[in-house]
Amino acid sequence: MARIIQQVAVIGGGTMGSGIGQHIAQKGIKVVIKEANDERAQACRDRIFGQLDKVVRLGKITSSEAEGTKARFSTTSSYDDIKDADLVIEAVFEDMAAKKAVFAELNPLFPEDVIFTTNSSSLSITEIASVTNRPDRFIGTHFFNPPVKAPLVELVKGNKTSDETFTVARRFMETVLGKTSILVKGCPGYLVNRLLLPYLNEAVRLLVETKLTVKQIDIEADRFGWPMGPFALLDYVGIDIAANVAKILHGGYGERAEPSSLMHHLVELGRIGNKVGAGFYVGSSTAGFEDIQTVIDREYLNRCELDVGEGFKRMMAGLCNEALMCLGEEIASASVIETGATLGIMFPMALEGPLHYAQEKYGFANLLIDLQRFEKEYGMRFKPAILLEQLVSQNKKIFDKAEEEEW
Ligand code: 3HC
Repeated sequence: MARIIQQVAVIGGGTMGSGIGQHIAQKGIKVVIKEANDERAQACRDRIFGQLDKVVRLGKITSSEAEGTKARFSTTSSYDDIKDADLVIEAVFEDMAAKKAVFAELNPLFPEDVIFTTNSSSLSITEIASVTNRPDRFIGTHFFNPPVKAPLVELVKGNKTSDETFTVARRFMETVLGKTSILVKGCPGYLVNRLLLPYLNEAVRLLVETKLTVKQIDIEADRFGWPMGPFALLDYVGIDIAANVAKILHGGYGERAEPSSLMHHLVELGRIGNKVGAGFYVGSSTAGFEDIQTVIDREYLNRCELDVGEGFKRMMAGLCNEALMCLGEEIASASVIETGATLGIMFPMALEGPLHYAQEKYGFANLLIDLQRFEKEYGMRFKPAILLEQLVSQNKKIFDKAEEEEW
């Protein structure tokens, strides 16, 4: 019999871990966040309490909701304080060795019926679970940023994850936390980061290769209907986080997922986004960082002129092509891909998702022509999905709007 989840331990109190912990506590469940040392544990607690006070001031929650949440929320640096948890969610840095080390330590502390989950956004669940004695009670639960507001959780099974574990995890995410969950097949980047990274990476490449600016590209994305432009989003998520996911995708998919050098360069410069007040944008009160355009002008010479619409098309074509690859590889069904895109990375809801967009607005034939042209000009990251070639040559659709049918 599965445990009733009354207390959750979150391992790691960074942006995602603390946000996940806050959300769980706001939903009425006791949560303890385990950090590496007392100083970090205290900083995490202060950040979340400060965040709760802020949203009270903004009128988003009542002060009694904030007080109740604070009473259910605690942080610690000691394993002793988490050993009563009924569910463990790991949210440490996205690194296989780090995650395995954490689970090797956690494993003997918890009875076998306690389910372990990882908030990994791209790594093999089977491999992480392999260091535990419960690969059947282990599952990937990938939350999105900000966890308090982002409506989606991506569920990823390892090769031994039991149906019961999946059911318990799904029920908890949906019924208790109020999220929409999607089940996707394990692969580097799973579904949602596989869709997002080609789009973000292309945006960064445009800065390096063309005279387009951060502002121009972000404005174009806003006009399309994204809630934030790619650079505002990179600063929000953390350029260090995105660069690391990009590295994992590069390892998984090779040359076609090669990240732009600028992303890693910004990490080296310590410009990792909003958490330090500087990334692609520099906060008005942040001192000591140059404007991004100054960095680009100095370090990336020989950039060409390009129309912003053409640049944005490269970003969208890459995203749509990846969605078609994911469908062709059966990473998820067409409707799950659309849910993952609209609720995971806020692909404009009015367009229904990248597959609908490719079929209804872009047109499969036009997408194929553009991808072939981009492949010739910019390389194999634009190599068209086999499924796209088939759809065009057979004049087929994914969604039959009239009959409401789908693959
Ligand atoms: N309780 C507690 N906190 C709340 C709250 C509530 N009821 N309602 C809002 N908040 C918090 C939010 O967390 C946010 O905090 P922050 O300022 O510290 O970020 C703040 O209050 C503002 O919330 P708003 O509702 O006012 O926010 P906006 O309407 O301005 O929307 C946004 C901001 C949610 C970030 C929106 O622009 C958005 O959805 N952008 C896209 C984000 C996205 O694509 N996320 C996915 C990234 S990919 C990813 O995470 C995968 C990873 O593996 C890389």
